[in-house]
Amino acid sequence: MKAIIVSMVAASSLFMACISMAADMPEVAKKFGCTNCHKIDKKLVGPGWKDISDKYKGDAEAEAKLSTKIVKGGSGVWGPIPMPGNAKISDPEVKELVTFILGL
Ligand code: HEC
Repeated sequence: MKAIIVSMVAASSLFMACISMAADMPEVAKKFGCTNCHKIDKKLVGPGWKDISDKYKGDAEAEAKLSTKIVKGGSGVWGPIPMPGNAKISDPEVKELVTFILGL
């Protein structure tokens, strides 16, 4: 009985580790504090990144729109709360984030 419980616990923690690995934020997102307001699969201050990906599916201008938003900030797409801009972020970093978000 004890062995069964132990192996069940081991299996479920392995399962949890896989889930959190799949939904981990990229390093750039931590560096620029995106993680303070965004989560992958849940709304925090800003919309969940998976919801953003769903909303822009099939939008040919998604990459341009999201890049501008990340650099300049703004509000009104998801609600009245503004997203702050990131003046110090580089183009490759913006591209990495947009590619990551749209690929969710
Ligand atoms: C202070 C909180 C905050 C931080 C920090 C933040 N965001 Fe946001 N983000 C928001 C809010 C609020 C919105 C919704 C804005 C709106 O409704 O137009 C948003 C929206 C977005 C959107 C969707 C834009 C759209 O027009 O649909 C993307 C993409 C995004 N954020 C990416 C990022 C990335 C990448 C970072 C880090 C570089 C970041 N956010 C940092 C609060 C934040």
